[in-house]
Amino acid sequence: MYTTKTLQEEILKQKKEQDLCILAHAYQSQDIWEIADYVGDSYGLSRKAAQASQKTILMCGVRFMAETVKILSPDKRVILSHPQAGCPMAEQMSVQEVMELKKTYPGYALAAYVNTTAELKTVCDICVTSSCAVDVIRHMENQNILFIPDCNLGAWTASQVPEKNITLVSGGCPVHAGITVQDVQAMRAAYPEALVLVHPECVPQVTSLADFVGSTTEIMDYAKQSSAAAFLIGTENSIVQHLQFACQDKRFYALSKNCVCHDMKLTTLMDVYRCVCGSGGEEIVLSKEVRQKARQCLDAMLELSQ
Ligand code: 13P
Ligand code: SF4
Repeated sequence: MYTTKTLQEEILKQKKEQDLCILAHAYQSQDIWEIADYVGDSYGLSRKAAQASQKTILMCGVRFMAETVKILSPDKRVILSHPQAGCPMAEQMSVQEVMELKKTYPGYALAAYVNTTAELKTVCDICVTSSCAVDVIRHMENQNILFIPDCNLGAWTASQVPEKNITLVSGGCPVHAGITVQDVQAMRAAYPEALVLVHPECVPQVTSLADFVGSTTEIMDYAKQSSAAAFLIGTENSIVQHLQFACQDKRFYALSKNCVCHDMKLTTLMDVYRCVCGSGGEEIVLSKEVRQKARQCLDAMLELSQ
């Protein structure tokens, strides 16, 4: 029988033998964090994907993240550790709908959250992630910007870049959108000394009550550097556990018990083990045309966010 420890040891051994890089999104579980070469938010993962020297990259996260790696590193073998791990938001808009929107808003630049399919990126002008959206939008030449598909990240970005005319489209993360004003009020009443740190995928009524709004990595960095002793976390609840491991002298509480991304939770350490043994996961295959067109969108983001 395997234990977490023996599986981790076997994965680390295989990783060395096979010129393999394991990238993990921060919402992955602690046992996966411990065997990954890099753990971060979507922005950090896309930067790492562009730089990795290994021949094979295993992405522990959701499908659009593995597609992003393939687009940025087309010559590498890219494996998604669990074939069913998708992001519901990434599937919310079709290419057809985006083409219709373009007709309705002629002359607008189309900015897409990175949480979109590779195919959708082919018809957009630029990508953003939650940590670089404000920076990227601020530095775009265009005055009029159509922001898809997350109207909550879009609203947060628009509030930080008032000089741009940003049009939002209804869509977003069902997990983060589930955090309510009542959750914030109840948890603030229970822990009055705690700071509220939330992800910009939360609804504007929630971000407006927060002490800090940032991406997964930004929330973690803020909590680590802060002199406060307690924090209410408004993002996927795995971050509560990761912060408890990182900062033993501080206390972390989930703003909502329901902020759980079941797609991010699909990947287990055993899935990772099967992938490194060559009997699991799914290799990401994208046509050259999709890769090249989608890449323009990601390159534009990486350039403006430097
Ligand atoms: P990050 O940009 O913080 O990685 O967020 C990605 C995501 O899917 C959040 O739900
Ligand atoms: Fe998608 Fe939301 Fe899950 Fe992130 S937390 S992967 S945006 S469903």
